[in-house]
Amino acid sequence: RVLIIDFGSQVTQLIARRVRESGVYSEIVPFQNAQAALERLKPQAIILSGGPASVPDGDSPRAPQQVFECGVPVLGICYGQMTMAAQLGGTVESGHHREFGRAEVEVRQPSALFDGIWNPGEAHVVWMSHGDRITELPPGFVVKGASPNAPCAVIEDEKRKFFGLMFHPEVVHTPDGAKLIANFIHKIAGLGGEWTMAAFREEMIGKIRAQVGKGKVICGLSGGVDSAVAAVLIHEAIGDQLTCIYVDHGLMRKGETEQVVSLFRGTFNIPLVHVDASARFLSALAGVTDPEVKRKTIGRLFIEVFDEEAKAVGDAEFLAQGTLYPDVIESVSFSGGPSVTIKSHHNVGGLPEGMKFKLVEPLRELFKDEVRLLGRELGLPDAFVGRHPFPGPGLAIRCPGAITSEKLDILREADAIYLDEIRKAGLYDTIWQAFAVLLPVQTVGVMGDGRTYESVCGLRAVTSVDGMTADFFPFDMAFLGRVANRIINEVRGINRVVYDVTSKPPGTIEWE
Ligand code: XMP
Repeated sequence: RVLIIDFGSQVTQLIARRVRESGVYSEIVPFQNAQAALERLKPQAIILSGGPASVPDGDSPRAPQQVFECGVPVLGICYGQMTMAAQLGGTVESGHHREFGRAEVEVRQPSALFDGIWNPGEAHVVWMSHGDRITELPPGFVVKGASPNAPCAVIEDEKRKFFGLMFHPEVVHTPDGAKLIANFIHKIAGLGGEWTMAAFREEMIGKIRAQVGKGKVICGLSGGVDSAVAAVLIHEAIGDQLTCIYVDHGLMRKGETEQVVSLFRGTFNIPLVHVDASARFLSALAGVTDPEVKRKTIGRLFIEVFDEEAKAVGDAEFLAQGTLYPDVIESVSFSGGPSVTIKSHHNVGGLPEGMKFKLVEPLRELFKDEVRLLGRELGLPDAFVGRHPFPGPGLAIRCPGAITSEKLDILREADAIYLDEIRKAGLYDTIWQAFAVLLPVQTVGVMGDGRTYESVCGLRAVTSVDGMTADFFPFDMAFLGRVANRIINEVRGINRVVYDVTSKPPGTIEWE
């Protein structure tokens, strides 16, 4: 096992990800808890992360001295390199605010870290961290690589197997970074690569049992992948101490509710409370046209209904959530800063304010693709696990203007046809998200010999890595023609189809 001591870098989780990709289990602990973690985990290698502090500042964080005394290899990255140098007797002077930048490192001497990748005399692109600088090396260390602005870009104490990098090997902008980390894990620490999702599953089951004991857990299912994977994993750990609550707001896509219910009750035999609250949501939304009011109405009502159902389950001490790592970073980096609300996000399964639960969040350390792997490992069907993201407020925000159950039915049919054609064309997995939108606009058409006056359906499909930016998907025209034809012929109430070619920014992915 590898212990990663976190000094607050925005990219610490990527270190864990790289270590896991090399097949070895790793755990991140904040520096304040590092001492206890050393004793508990008995790590075979330690990585010190970057962080925003400056070493010469009197109260900046340090690694427990034991890190350097327990005889295992240590890799210090950015701030981690600086604190290591200072703690081992070198001198560090403060620089300016920490930031990343592209740089070239010239390899000065061979190192086990460079094995099979970098050779002396070569220069390689890295993502450098500018901040403090080492002005005097600690005893035992030599410089293995340098750049014009960073004379100590790579330092090493060969005997003790201590390494310090002034750049970030964990980010993709350092093209050989993953290989450097793999060398540290395999060649220097001598760790094998057997850690897999199967191992994570076992590990997490143990942790859930330890956290929950004999307590009761409730979990809000959204119909999405994350809450489903979390629920199946927790059920595997504690069985029927878990109750899932599925608040059906009536804004799901075609067949989705049936699928969730049969998957949980049937395939997995997990206790599930299915609350059909669609009438309540529809009446609260009646006549509401403002997108923010829609979102807030749905968010508020969801919490109300969930709260009632949670009380009915009785004496649950824990609330399970499918929080992922990106949710965790986002909520840290965006907190406190001035930012404009573009849309008030509502996540089904989010913690109802004012409810006093302890949280169980088994996916907190995982990225989306890892959750999908775990889902497959747990036996969730491929088609379910690979689904596109779906927003908490559901079809309400894909139906601009006031919502009615007739409009939702029309939208559901059009959306199902569109997704069916995308699947048939083998494009589903290439697209980040695809959906139909029902516009509050009627246009004139002609069908057979008659005049029609019906709604317009918009089609949206985007590619994206994280939903923060997106490009429209370049379907070929014949494909779009086929979809339009089917929708107009098969869905009553739509007589015109348009394709949305807006990127994000300036558009957003959803229409509201
Ligand atoms: P936008 O429309 O802001 O969407 O470009 C970015 C991503 O977020 C999803 N989305 C939501 N997800 N609750 C969610 O859980 C919400 O309220 C919500 N609104 C948008 C959207 O589907 C896209 O993937």
